[in-house]
Amino acid sequence: MDFNAKKENTMRTIIRNGRIITASDDYSADIYIEGEKIHTIGTNLNMVADKEIDAHGLLVMPGGIDPHVHLDMPFMGTYSSDNYETGTRAALHGGTTMVIDFVLQTQGKSLQSALDEWKGRSNGNAVGDYSFHMAVTDFNESTKKEIAQIILEEGITSFKTFMAYKGALMIDDRQMIGLMQEVKKHGGLINVHATNGDMIDYLIAKHRSEGKLSPLYHYLSQPEVTEAEASGRFADMADYTGCRGYIVHLTCEGALNAVRNSTKRNQHVHVETCIQYLLLDASLYEQNFEGAKYVMSPPLRKEKDRETLWAGIKQGLVNVVATDNCPFMWEQKLMGKDDFSKIPNGHPAIEHRMELLFSEGVAKGRISLNKFVEVASTNAAMIFGMFPTKGTIAVGSDADILIFDPNEKHTISASSHHMNVDYSAYEGREVTGKVKTVLLRGQVAIEGGVCKLEKGYGKFVKRKTTSSGDRVIG
Ligand code: URP
Ligand code: ZN
Ligand code: ZN
Repeated sequence: MDFNAKKENTMRTIIRNGRIITASDDYSADIYIEGEKIHTIGTNLNMVADKEIDAHGLLVMPGGIDPHVHLDMPFMGTYSSDNYETGTRAALHGGTTMVIDFVLQTQGKSLQSALDEWKGRSNGNAVGDYSFHMAVTDFNESTKKEIAQIILEEGITSFKTFMAYKGALMIDDRQMIGLMQEVKKHGGLINVHATNGDMIDYLIAKHRSEGKLSPLYHYLSQPEVTEAEASGRFADMADYTGCRGYIVHLTCEGALNAVRNSTKRNQHVHVETCIQYLLLDASLYEQNFEGAKYVMSPPLRKEKDRETLWAGIKQGLVNVVATDNCPFMWEQKLMGKDDFSKIPNGHPAIEHRMELLFSEGVAKGRISLNKFVEVASTNAAMIFGMFPTKGTIAVGSDADILIFDPNEKHTISASSHHMNVDYSAYEGREVTGKVKTVLLRGQVAIEGGVCKLEKGYGKFVKRKTTSSGDRVIG
């Protein structure tokens, strides 16, 4: 089946008078787009176009890339409530033109069978562009044989591992080392959910046996040490094998210090945090079952951890701000009303990552505009083998463009969001900065708050290997 069969795009568009921001530049110019690609950048362009967009007073930035989402994912006895259509459309509304989802191997089965399943769910359904990481949950001799083909033929160059969720997704250190060696051989990268699964399982069992069953005990079952220990262990294994590593959803000071220590031996472990860990904290668990809205793994942390993460972005230790978007309807969250360990873990944010990061980061003076682009788009493109097709504004790049009003204020609410979930973790929060127009491969995707693309426009993006981790800014 042809994954990417599409009608040819012959559209010509000019974006005039915008302030173009990339991870390294800040200048005013016009952009002429032909078909899917940026054709020319310059001042007072006199090309003829089918469509002109006046971006005077607005920022023109690369479309966002969210490399950590779970769409239509089977998890904890249910499925995440955003599918490829609703999830990628909501992402576009928020200025994110591409996402990377996770294929989950079923233990005892092949990587290819999981990939076929995920292709079945995604093919023809996405509105925005997407790719996959391959989660290896059972590394054995036959899985090992599949690695090269997944990288070279499928264009899936990153492999996800879980150091937690024992019995479902977790692999042990022996498997981790074996996988790292094989992935390294073929130029790939290992992503990791770095928390100590055995410690967490011990604490969950302890709290349950003591009748401590509210969402607060989800938080208390995953203390900072569980993440700091696993992050350090992962960095050590990556150093030992020489494999490139990327820690997903890093939340806390202890874990970031483990990464900081690895830099002392000149190691570069890439780090992703997620928007919720920058904005929210664990006091949200101190309410009754409402705290279930924030049950995710790792859990929200303390104020001091939020400060560490903002500092880590500035220091270039935190390279990417993603979402780990894994929404569940309130009814699904109620599966755990009598037992926190049965609450489906996950949080909806795919739509608001860019606006929240801009508002809390740029508008409040914590990060620069260039840094915003770097962590919301460019670094993900570089780390995951898509740069410069994705993640920048340059001649020859895909015309994935976000036109953004840095001053317009608006309020986030479940009543107006586009994600398929019936609550918002940011209900009533006022943000400064608003997505005005979004282009995806030269086509207007969002204009006037309306999505102009149909499902099926979103393309699966095959990725390259990136043999060195050095091509990251910051
Ligand atoms: O709570 C979370 N994070 N749910 C999604 C699965 C994962 O661990 O990323
Ligand atoms: Zn995870
Ligand atoms: Zn995740």
